[in-house]
Amino acid sequence: MTTPTLKGTIQVPGDKSISHRAIIFGSIAEGQTTVSNFLRSNDCLATLQAFRQMGVHIKEDGNSLTIDGVGMLGLQESQEPLDMQNSGTSTRLMAGLLAGQHFDSHMVGDASLSKRPMGRVITPLSEMNGTLVATDGHLPMDIYGEVLHGIHYRLPIASAQVKSAIILAALTAQSDTTIEEPLPSRDHSETMLKLFSPESIDKEDGLITIHPDHPLKAQHVEVPADISSAAFFLVAGAIVPGSEITIERVGLNPTRDGIIRVLEQMGADLTIDRIDQPGEPMANLTIKAGPLKTFHIEEADIPALVDEVPILALLATAVDGVSTISGAAELRVKESDRLAAIASELGKLGASIEEKPDGLIITGGKPLTVQDEQVDSFGDHRIAMTLKVASLLLDKEITIKDEDCMAVSYPTFSTDLNTLIRK
Ligand code: S3P
Repeated sequence: MTTPTLKGTIQVPGDKSISHRAIIFGSIAEGQTTVSNFLRSNDCLATLQAFRQMGVHIKEDGNSLTIDGVGMLGLQESQEPLDMQNSGTSTRLMAGLLAGQHFDSHMVGDASLSKRPMGRVITPLSEMNGTLVATDGHLPMDIYGEVLHGIHYRLPIASAQVKSAIILAALTAQSDTTIEEPLPSRDHSETMLKLFSPESIDKEDGLITIHPDHPLKAQHVEVPADISSAAFFLVAGAIVPGSEITIERVGLNPTRDGIIRVLEQMGADLTIDRIDQPGEPMANLTIKAGPLKTFHIEEADIPALVDEVPILALLATAVDGVSTISGAAELRVKESDRLAAIASELGKLGASIEEKPDGLIITGGKPLTVQDEQVDSFGDHRIAMTLKVASLLLDKEITIKDEDCMAVSYPTFSTDLNTLIRK
């Protein structure tokens, strides 16, 4: 097999985090919200279906949505369980919103989601007078609608999902809520709430305060391309020799752009062409393959690149020397145990990776060679896409188990990657 090069311009699909939030805020706003470049992936469609079950009329036209908002207390009890499928974001954000409704809800999920911890949202929501009954801290979960009160909560972990659950619950509470974060996590909920209801939120000295009782007003939301999806092309472009790829209109929110900072520190040939417009920041990114230096990623860096760790580990295998990732224990409770999955599956491709309780030590520089042709995604979309990029560098074909799970965040990943391949 000869190594291909990657050349061309690509538009990756809309941001997953922002797409979920556009449905949620659009549904509880008053009036008709429109969304463009919505991500039609399994995770976001789980959120969309759940709001339809709760009586929200949502029209789909390609990647555009029209949502007829029902107002903060206009949702209705779903007659069927809310199936969150593989989506932690849908589950945790909606748990927050549903805790303060006037009806009860029952949430279920797939095997992977049913292993993920829900105590992290149940604890603060219970402090607000919520009643959420999970199964040993996991889905299935019953959420009994209660009258909530505000709290002051310091998050024990940097988690945008937990923060957003509290923000959404706080909107239905009877008094103000303040939230403190140990490290800044993605702030799409705060940005979108500010757009839909500027009076509902204040941010000062690292404290987020939510003032309930202000209606949300319908808006237009343009979803930028997902930097977490662009990440696979940024790394592929950086390490597949001779490559040059441009990725258009990528969201560059400073709470999400950790991978850009890592690539810059590594000396990557990356051009950032910023697009001047209101709303979430965006840029066209061009990456060219070239020499790279090792990286050292620490706990404080993790929130801004939490979903990029698998593909960054692959990047490190291509660079001479030792790269390290620490303070990343959260990776163990994602769609799979990502630290274990990366170490074992890239190990099957000849990578030298030592697994630590909270990170990875990667000794890179020697070409990958297939030791075992069967690699496993563990049903985790980001592991599957990392292995797909790795396959470009290999001397033999590999089979990725459960490759279809890419549809969780990027249904057309393989076809998009193929459009760039020049043999
Ligand atoms: C997300 C937050 C992150 C991230 C996930 C999406 C969000 O999770 O890993 O893919 O949209 O809020 P945590 O907040 O649990 O770290």
